Amino acid sequence: MSLSSRELTPPRIFVLHENIPWVEPLRREFAAIDAPFSEWFLDRGLLDLTSTPPEGIFYNRMSASSHTRGHRYAPEYTAAVLAWLTKHARTIVNGERALQLEISKVAQYESLAKFGVETPATIAVIGREYIPQAAAAIGYPVILKHNRAGKGLGVKLIYSEAGLTEHLASEAFEDSVDGIMLVQRYIKAPEPFITRVEFIGGKLLYAVRVDTTQGFELCPADACQIQQPSEACPAIAPGDKFRILPRFEHPLIPAWQSFLAANDIGVAGIEFINDAQGCAYTYDVNTNTNYNPDAETRDGRRGMQAIALHLKRLLIERYGAASNLASAA
Ligand SMILES: Nc1ncnc2c1ncn2[C@@H]1O[C@H](COP(=O)(O)OP(=O)(O)O)[C@@H](O)[C@H]1O
Ligand SMILES: [Mg+2]
Repeated sequence: MSLSSRELTPPRIFVLHENIPWVEPLRREFAAIDAPFSEWFLDRGLLDLTSTPPEGIFYNRMSASSHTRGHRYAPEYTAAVLAWLTKHARTIVNGERALQLEISKVAQYESLAKFGVETPATIAVIGREYIPQAAAAIGYPVILKHNRAGKGLGVKLIYSEAGLTEHLASEAFEDSVDGIMLVQRYIKAPEPFITRVEFIGGKLLYAVRVDTTQGFELCPADACQIQQPSEACPAIAPGDKFRILPRFEHPLIPAWQSFLAANDIGVAGIEFINDAQGCAYTYDVNTNTNYNPDAETRDGRRGMQAIALHLKRLLIERYGAASNLASAA
C-alpha cells in the first residue's frame, strides 16, 4: 500500500487499523453522514519517510491484540506511521502516546497514578521463573495477565501456590507477546460485573456494565462474542451480558478525562471494578474500543456514530466545510 499523498486528495478521514470486522460498523456510520474516508490496513507494507502524507484526519485504531490475528508487527508499523504523521503536523486522534498505552498496561497504570486513579497492586515480571516470587509478594488469589494483550488474553485467576506451579508447567500458560507478564491483586467484586466507561473526543459517551460470570473475555465487539449454549449459563439471557447504564456519574470522571487528555487519547473505553468496600480500581484502558451492538440497540446511543461525527467535525474544523464534499469526488 502507498501511504503518500499522491493519489488521495482532497482531505478525508483515514482509519488506521488491522481488523476489518471492527471497522465495519464505522464504515456504515461514515456512509450515513456522508463523510469521506479511507482505510489504512497496517500489517505489512512500505513507509517512505521522504514522502508527504495526504491531508486529512487520522484515527488510529491499532489494537494490542493484533498479534492474535497474525499481525505481529502491526503496532510497530503504526508507531512508525504515527511518527511520520506527527512530523507533518497532521491531526491525529489517538496519537503516538495513545498507542504506547494501548500496548502496555504498565504504561497505563503509571500514567493513571499521576492523576490519582487507583489501579490494582501489580508486579511486572520478565521471565516466567520470577512469577512465583511476584505472586507471593502480592498474596493469593492473584490475577496473571499480559502486559500487551486485550480481549482477556492470558488473564487467569490463580488461587494458590500449588495452582500457580501447575499453571506455569501446563500448556495453558502463554507468555505475553512483549515478554512482560503482570501479576496483579485480584479485586473481588461483591457482584459479578465490571464497568466500562466510553469516552469520545474526551467526553463521556456512556458506561456499560459487563457481566463477568462467563469469564474474563469481555471484548464488546460482536465478532468476539463466545457462543454459549443457554443451558450452560441460564442466568444470563443472550444479549444481557452488556448493559448500557441510562445514567452514569462517578467521582473519577474528571481524573480519567485529565489522564486521557494528557496522553493524547481522544477515544477510549476505560474499565474499572469495585471491591467489597466500594473502592474503584481502574485496570484497563482500551484506546481501540468497540461497542456492543445489542446493548446499543436497546439503549439507542451508538459509539461508532459518535466517533464518525467527531471525526467529521475535526475534518471540517481543520479544512473547512468544503472538505466534506470530498466524498462526492
Ligand atoms: N485485578 C483484577 N481483579 C479482578 N478481575 C480482573 C482483574 N484484572 C482483570 N480482571 C478481569 O479480567 C478481564 C480482562 O482483564 P483486562 O485487564 O481487561 O485485560 P484485557 O486487556 O485483555 O481486556 C477484566 O475485564 C476483568 O473481568
Ligand atoms: Mg479489558
